[in-house]
Amino acid sequence: MTKLILDLDTGIDDTLALLYALASPDAELIGIAGTFGNVSVETGVANDLALLELFGRPDIPVFAGIDHPSWADSFSVMPESRRFHGRNGTGDVEIPARARAQAQTQSAVDFIVDAVRAMSPEDLIVIPTGASTNIAAALEAAPDTVGRARIVMMGGSLTQPGNVTPFAEANIMQDPEASSKLFAAGAQITMIGLDVTTQVKLSHEQAEAYRATGTATGTFLSDMLAYYIDVTEEAHPTGVPGCNLHDPLAVAAALDPSLIDTFSCDIMVETEGAGRGRTIGDPARVTCPSGRTQVALAVDAQRFVERFMERTLAFVRRCP
Ligand code: BDR
Ligand code: CA
Repeated sequence: MTKLILDLDTGIDDTLALLYALASPDAELIGIAGTFGNVSVETGVANDLALLELFGRPDIPVFAGIDHPSWADSFSVMPESRRFHGRNGTGDVEIPARARAQAQTQSAVDFIVDAVRAMSPEDLIVIPTGASTNIAAALEAAPDTVGRARIVMMGGSLTQPGNVTPFAEANIMQDPEASSKLFAAGAQITMIGLDVTTQVKLSHEQAEAYRATGTATGTFLSDMLAYYIDVTEEAHPTGVPGCNLHDPLAVAAALDPSLIDTFSCDIMVETEGAGRGRTIGDPARVTCPSGRTQVALAVDAQRFVERFMERTLAFVRRCP
């Protein structure tokens, strides 16, 4: 059983990442850290609490994280994020549950630091699927955690264009300075970027399978996915129908690395000019590679999507 911390900007595919983690018998979700990106920290944390209630796991603690990028004093949602995730983060579909639990008083950064210190790197994986701000701040505040932390992140792109600028992927673009520190810190990182997440698609037909469970949870998921698929097909017409399962792939690859093939490459993040937010091999480390950063470049898409559907449908059938 692998212990997981999800660092979410919840978010449609963050919702699916949470669903997949809870539906996976080989995962134990020990807590959620809230970051910003698709929505504010406040909205994301409220979504996390309501979703945990809906999914029958209100016992899982939620920790609010830093609510703005390290390069600014405040945060406002990018128009592109609002377009993809709606005003409320779930495609303007209401979560059919009211949270009874509240967020913890401890900060997300302190929670991550304490957990990485307390648990063996073999047992715990931290999965950021939004801005890198919390995880970078944790490694900076507690340098002793750098050698212990295992991170599987959704973010970046090495071989594909960006999805918010020609060079930048959305999560990295939220806080390129924090992502730059994260990749420079020397922690063990697997980057699940657009190279692989654009290969894993969920179609309208597959999305409707949740509704067919006859549960309120299933209806919510199908409605939310319909929104996400429509906007994805409109914004990024690739010819392959469906939406990208960005964040759930990071969870699945953390639990089962055989789903991906990786390339060892120290990454740097450009922070200036038109290339701001670009993830690219670090020339300063090309002759002295650390071997600590792996970039996923191939994925067994069919095996992942089948597993995603199988696990999440079985879980949703047990939900209200
Ligand atoms: C990433 O950006 C966010 O919009 C998604 O939730 C995902 O984490 C994809 O680029
Ligand atoms: Ca996300």
